[in-house]
Amino acid sequence: MAKTVKKQANSTIFIIFGGTGDLTKRKIMPALYNLFLDGWLPQDFAIVGSSSSKMSDEKYITELLVAVNQFSRNGKAKKEEWDQFSSHISFLSADLTDHATFKGFGTVIEKYKKEWEQTPSIIYYCAVAPHFFCTIAENIAKSKLENDPETTRIIIEKPFGNDLESAKGLNKRLLSIFDETQIYRIDHYLGKEVVQNIMAFRFANSIMEPLWNRNHVEHVQISVTEQLGVGSRGNYFDRAGVMRDMIQNHLMQLLCIIAMEPPINFDADEVRDRKVDVLKAMRRIEPRKVESISARGQYSSGWIKGKEVLGYRQEKNVDPESNTDTYAALKLYVDNWRWQGVPFYLRTGKRLFKKSSIITIQFKEIPHNIFVSETSGVPKQNRLVISIQPDMSIRFQLQNKKPGLEMTLNTVDIAFDYFDNKKSDSPEAYETLLLDAITGDQTLFMRADQVEAAWELIMPILNYWEKNTDSNFPNYAADSWGPENAEALIAKDGYHWFNLPEKNKKD
Ligand code: BG6
Repeated sequence: MAKTVKKQANSTIFIIFGGTGDLTKRKIMPALYNLFLDGWLPQDFAIVGSSSSKMSDEKYITELLVAVNQFSRNGKAKKEEWDQFSSHISFLSADLTDHATFKGFGTVIEKYKKEWEQTPSIIYYCAVAPHFFCTIAENIAKSKLENDPETTRIIIEKPFGNDLESAKGLNKRLLSIFDETQIYRIDHYLGKEVVQNIMAFRFANSIMEPLWNRNHVEHVQISVTEQLGVGSRGNYFDRAGVMRDMIQNHLMQLLCIIAMEPPINFDADEVRDRKVDVLKAMRRIEPRKVESISARGQYSSGWIKGKEVLGYRQEKNVDPESNTDTYAALKLYVDNWRWQGVPFYLRTGKRLFKKSSIITIQFKEIPHNIFVSETSGVPKQNRLVISIQPDMSIRFQLQNKKPGLEMTLNTVDIAFDYFDNKKSDSPEAYETLLLDAITGDQTLFMRADQVEAAWELIMPILNYWEKNTDSNFPNYAADSWGPENAEALIAKDGYHWFNLPEKNKKD
């Protein structure tokens, strides 16, 4: 969670398995570098990157610098600052499947303990393919590496399992080695600035709570659309699909933050308990209802900004007859007092018209319309539009009298626009999450029961889709807003998907 004061973190050794991989270069290292620049890292810290490659510390650091220059929100690193930061980095070659090679980490940990004369926090970061998560944990145990529940943590990337059974299995194996308080399951959406702000917006403003329920909210939309295709991740994605890749984790977490009850305090478990309550209250999906509450899609080729792009089945490492979903839309209900009868529509997909993550709360119509003259126009329903990216803003759409002699209504926004501040001032999700892991704050990480509850909810859809392939695939063109069946899913209830209006244009 966002820190209120610069908390002095304990001395820390950060061991990254997958230290030469894409995630380390694009996200982890730029995030650590920016935390260093902003003064959040402790004075004594060490980053040990590891992979099966053999290379010197110098070569490793040079590779990281190239990545940081490309991916850091602060642009190119300044020499002096980089030199200071990189003096904390080293590289250790290890074979993840051979615990004998893990001994080297023990030696490094002991070295720093002696040098710093204190017990540092140890963070093991599994930035590797999911099938290595348990192997790493088991090899940490076998080679008797530091595992003090007070000071040792393990960060696990997504996907956490491939279905409910595998997620349960993974939890069981991890929990046989680590306590739940040591396990940090990442969902990077929870670290996004605007997502964190939803909690402040809901629970630090007294005017929100009376409106935040079925009496005033007509429906909720959570929409995460992407312009990119699967790129080089065909191998993984073709086995996952967008339901596993996006809905089980990111969209379900967004839904939980919108729908949760106010927590009693900000303790990690209190907040996560309230989210689990939401998942438990979600209406179970019966197999016979899957067709009526969901829509799926797969993209075909098309043109984006004058460039032809491949259809999903033509992407590298994708089965040419694949039935994997690259788009999914759902209509869900939260069966409790607050949300009874309010539909929550979720949609996400790849190769769509625009990259945009927005949550829209549509409020009910006014009970009686007094603006009935020909010129006034019908009052539109109020909306709260929370834009997570690329625009970062929260807008309340209200009805207003247009200045002039006639009573003519128009929609105006009361807006909080993050771009009024410099974009680079806003920390990346990974910065927030890594700092939380360093300071031992689990609030924005997924607990075992949360992950399992989210899997449990979507399993009927996954099972149904697996058994009943869609003969219409591919069913939407690249650069479109997705398949027609997704439009129909929401249109049959009398609504349509909202896209964030262009500046000064309301839909
Ligand atoms: C990842 C998914 O978790 O989130 C990717 O695996 C997806 O497929 C990405 O593209 C989207 O993240 P963001 O932050 O770009 O919205």
